Amino acid sequence: MVRLVKQAPALSDVAFAKWQDIIEDRLGLQLPEQRRSFLKTCLAMRMREIGFSDYLTYFNYVRSGDAGLIEWNCLIDRLTVQETRFFRDPEAFALVRDHLQRCCDAGRGPLSLWSVGCSSGEETYSLAMLTAEVLEQTDRRPRLRFGVTGTDVSRNALDQARAGVYGRRRVELVDERLEQRYFEQSEDHYQVVQAVRDRVCFVRLNLLELARSPLRNLDLIYCQNVLIYFRKWRRKDIVTELADRLAPGGMLVLGLGEMGDWSHPALTRVPSERALAYLKRK
Ligand SMILES: C[S@@+](CC[C@H](N)C(=O)[O-])C[C@H]1O[C@@H](n2cnc3c(N)ncnc32)[C@H](O)[C@@H]1O
Repeated sequence: MVRLVKQAPALSDVAFAKWQDIIEDRLGLQLPEQRRSFLKTCLAMRMREIGFSDYLTYFNYVRSGDAGLIEWNCLIDRLTVQETRFFRDPEAFALVRDHLQRCCDAGRGPLSLWSVGCSSGEETYSLAMLTAEVLEQTDRRPRLRFGVTGTDVSRNALDQARAGVYGRRRVELVDERLEQRYFEQSEDHYQVVQAVRDRVCFVRLNLLELARSPLRNLDLIYCQNVLIYFRKWRRKDIVTELADRLAPGGMLVLGLGEMGDWSHPALTRVPSERALAYLKRK
């Protein structure tokens, strides 16, 4: 019988290196020495749950067959940081609002938006609510429909996103008017209203397999707090691919400080000291 572990066993250099490699290879996530104890804790907790006591035996299990694949998908939820909030970056959302307004004024539509690395959906719904607000103020509303796609590698996060149900604390920071308009409260839970959920869809996508995504010709791509865990060369590859998927005149929003000195021949930086956004030339 497999012995259940009580305390996290020591993670040897060999086992650490193997886990680092597979995680970076499959997810792009870099786990430097400083994150060794994070990895050890994640693995040990999961191993305890399913009865493994050795990191290398568990490693071999995860790499083999269908059972390993199922286990890997479960592990993804533990290894990824899924912290998020509604309207998390107000400065970036202000740029998005202006951009959407210009799109409406120009009669562009239907508008396509993409929230990359959407976690449990707060970012995706924030974009949908903002777009609904902007469209509300235009007289071209009937023509200007919109859709927001949220993608993430974590199935668990996507399940939460699809449900669109959040606890009181998650909704607390939403502007009161928006809260009343876009959430239905039942007991201590808040559900995003159907009209907004109808405009949103969630799809599983690993950023390392971006080339497989059919999403193209986007009016807005919003990708924050995902690339920070990737090596610089990989960030550049991903962001270049995202830029190629923008429609002419589309906007790419990244996290401030996430891209260093990156530039793209078809993009112009939107002037702002407190948000990082680019516009694709028409
Ligand atoms: C910190 S959350 C960011 C959520 C949201 N973008 C925000 O800024 O609030 C990072 C998300 O990136 C996702 N992620 C990590 N690696 C990924 C990959 N290789 N492909 C797609 N999503 C990934 C994680 O599952 C997680 O939900």
